[in-house]
Amino acid sequence: MKKILSIILAGLAFFGINKATAEEINMTGKKVLVVYFSRTGEQYSVGNITEGNTAIIAKMIADKTKGDLFEVKLKNDTYPAAYKALTEVALSEKKANARPEIAENVTNFADYDVVFIGSPNWWSDMPMALYTFMEANDWSGKIVAPFVTHEGSGLSSIPSKIKTATGTEMLDGLAIYGHVAQNEREQAKENVLNWLNKLGF
Ligand SMILES: Cc1cc2nc3c(=O)[nH]c(=O)nc-3n(C[C@H](O)[C@H](O)[C@H](O)COP(=O)(O)O)c2cc1C
Repeated sequence: MKKILSIILAGLAFFGINKATAEEINMTGKKVLVVYFSRTGEQYSVGNITEGNTAIIAKMIADKTKGDLFEVKLKNDTYPAAYKALTEVALSEKKANARPEIAENVTNFADYDVVFIGSPNWWSDMPMALYTFMEANDWSGKIVAPFVTHEGSGLSSIPSKIKTATGTEMLDGLAIYGHVAQNEREQAKENVLNWLNKLGF
């Protein structure tokens, strides 16, 4: 019985250990980077947009946390602007577990303590370029907070995919509807600020 109990406790400790809470982390003086991937062009439920949904949220986060913004862009961006065509390309890249080359990396990545990673939900996953970015950097000692824009799927398992790719401590993620980010900015901002407040910002 004692043995079973200690196995259960060890299991709980294992699963709980990487979930950092705001009480455990003092964000004062922490250097923040807000990394995101986002598309303009035709997008589900919002039509043709000139600023991507995730980009809008990323800027709100950078504003509040006084963080630096970094957009992950493709080196050769051949993605179609039309929504349906893009979903097909994205699905085949996901199936192939592709690593599209990115245009540039963050030069002073080592300087940052907290990294926000923002992604649109693409087929319950991230655009593969975000994996390219994550695998190109050394995440030791970083704290990561994920945020996702979507049209119904929420965070999916994106936080655990980020955790696997970076091996970092993870804060609770934010999921926000893309059309809210795009068309209901005050509501979006309120959600963002509430979430940041819970994280200690
Ligand atoms: C390729 C692709 C796949 C998508 N797959 C999903 C999905 O599985 N679940 C979902 O809720 N939304 C999905 N969406 C909608 C986007 O997550 C949503 O519109 C998001 O806000 C787009 O962000 P962006 O403007 O920053 O690129 C998908 C959109 C695209 C383009």
